Amino acid sequence: MDGMDAWVQGDVELREFNTFGVSARARRFVRIDDARQVRAVVDHPELGTLPKLVLGGGSNLLLTRDPPGVVLKIEIPGMRVLHDDADSTLVEAGAGVAWHELVCWTLQQGFGGLENLALIPGSVGAAPVQNIGAYGMELAERFESLDLVDLTTGRAATLERAACRFGYRDSLFKHALAGKSVITCVRLRLPKPWRAQLGYAELQRHLERAGVHDPSPQQVFDAVCAIRRAKLPDPARLGNAGSFFKNPVVNRTIRNEILEEFPEIVSYPLDDGTYKLAAAWMIEACGCKGRSIGGAAVDARHALVLVNRGGASGDDVLRLAESVRDSVRERFGIDLEYEPVVV
Ligand code: EPU
Repeated sequence: MDGMDAWVQGDVELREFNTFGVSARARRFVRIDDARQVRAVVDHPELGTLPKLVLGGGSNLLLTRDPPGVVLKIEIPGMRVLHDDADSTLVEAGAGVAWHELVCWTLQQGFGGLENLALIPGSVGAAPVQNIGAYGMELAERFESLDLVDLTTGRAATLERAACRFGYRDSLFKHALAGKSVITCVRLRLPKPWRAQLGYAELQRHLERAGVHDPSPQQVFDAVCAIRRAKLPDPARLGNAGSFFKNPVVNRTIRNEILEEFPEIVSYPLDDGTYKLAAAWMIEACGCKGRSIGGAAVDARHALVLVNRGGASGDDVLRLAESVRDSVRERFGIDLEYEPVVV
């Protein structure tokens, strides 16, 4: 490219870099395989001034247009045990490692603790951004700290758990730090002795049916993988970004009002006295399952998931999401929030 350094690519098709498999083009594209390279981007005379889109596994992203500026594709590798004693094991992984690969690696090393989070698509660096969670566990419960590089100053810093302000599918990186930094590595603490976390009823039922009463980390892992494979479409086969909608959290009064009108609604009490409503149940109750716009559809198996049946544009997916949100608002008076980042 004219006058541009060799490590900067121009006009790159992003279809293979987002799990929805929608087309968009990056005007500038840089692969980052080392934290110091982020500094090089910040200090670069042209790139330093451009808006930046940080891309991990592209599994929590909906591209509805060509992202302006430069796309930073995070490919920082590495997994290691930093510390291991009688109370816990501390592991560190580069932001570019696939999350599921880290889960498998820790199990192979003999360390349980991440098995409930098996098969979640995306990268290690993206995991804290939305505080990934599934089957009764959230990343925050295992999180120790992370390193990041500030995209304005190029300075590196370490953030401990409290500073990350984790919430349900939420963190500082979706608010004050949104688009402002690159997470370069993440540290997780796996407690000892290992205890199975079977609070999620379906997981417990699955193990009981399989005749497993005192499961090992590997058995919990296998159960989580089996449940996910049965319920959620594999993004490698059918483009999707996992749950597209968050489960809304409401106070007891609102939950009781809804319950009076819709006694069947699925809801879970939270520790603080609020309730999480199952958005999938509400979407299905609105008759949205299978609804499609262009190549985008509400998944036939799991109503929280929007899929690319083939040839969907980011705009098709967004219009479908809006129509689902409208239906749920009309019927239940609740505004669903989107889980992926929409560009
Ligand atoms: N349901 C329906 N219709 C459907 C699907 C589900 O009525 O099409 C009902 C089910 O019967 C169930 C309830 O909705 O009673 C909840 O369904 P599920 O157990 O599948 O969990 P979810 O609340 O829909 C959440 C996470 C998933 C995570 C699962 C398991 C969110 C937004 N989603 O889904 O996370 O795997 O729990 O823990 O919190 C993701 O974030 O991308 C994701 C897949």
